[in-house]
Amino acid sequence: MTQHVTVLYGDLDRILITGQEIKDAVERLGAQITRDYQGKSPVMICILKGAVVFFSDLIRSIDLPVSLDFMAISSYGSSTKTSGVVRILKDLDHDVAGRDVIVVEDIVDSGLTLSYITSLLDQRAARSVKIATLLDKPERRRTPLVVDYCCFTIPNEFVVGYGLDYNEKYRNLPDVGVLSPRMYSE
Ligand code: IMP
Ligand code: MG
Repeated sequence: MTQHVTVLYGDLDRILITGQEIKDAVERLGAQITRDYQGKSPVMICILKGAVVFFSDLIRSIDLPVSLDFMAISSYGSSTKTSGVVRILKDLDHDVAGRDVIVVEDIVDSGLTLSYITSLLDQRAARSVKIATLLDKPERRRTPLVVDYCCFTIPNEFVVGYGLDYNEKYRNLPDVGVLSPRMYSE
């Protein structure tokens, strides 16, 4: 366990994935994307804000001339459940028409957010659209969605850290942990 943010660790039930395990998995994923996209220059799209930590590590483990873009969306609903209705808060700066796109997300839960985003990118005539996620909770899927790249499949528990939040907190934890249910049942 990393020792310098012990204040936040008190709110966790347990650590699920350590920063070191994440680092190794992200490096493997970067190497795989580097192989899969040889000769191409994909656009990496970071879904703000949850994916920002994963994104910043992943892009540095890819040895390709990538370009970066950012999209912020909000899904209506409570902070632990998605409603599936998605609103764009910040759109991409660049046109994706004809480009190979990799959408980078923190976690795929119901899958509703990413199916909305991937169909939007298809409508905008991206040449290819793939999904890279740090975490996948397949038990919670409410729509069929192909996850092309995933670092960890996790059980149906609410997790925070390494970009993932609860009410905007815990994004700066270096590990991924299960938030103690008392933190959101109070
Ligand atoms: P989906 O549309 O249900 O797949 O929503 C995915 C989004 O819900 C993620 O980008 C997160 O913002 C949020 N989310 C889902 N599960 C968790 C979790 O366990 N911890 C923190 N955020 C989560
Ligand atoms: Mg998110």
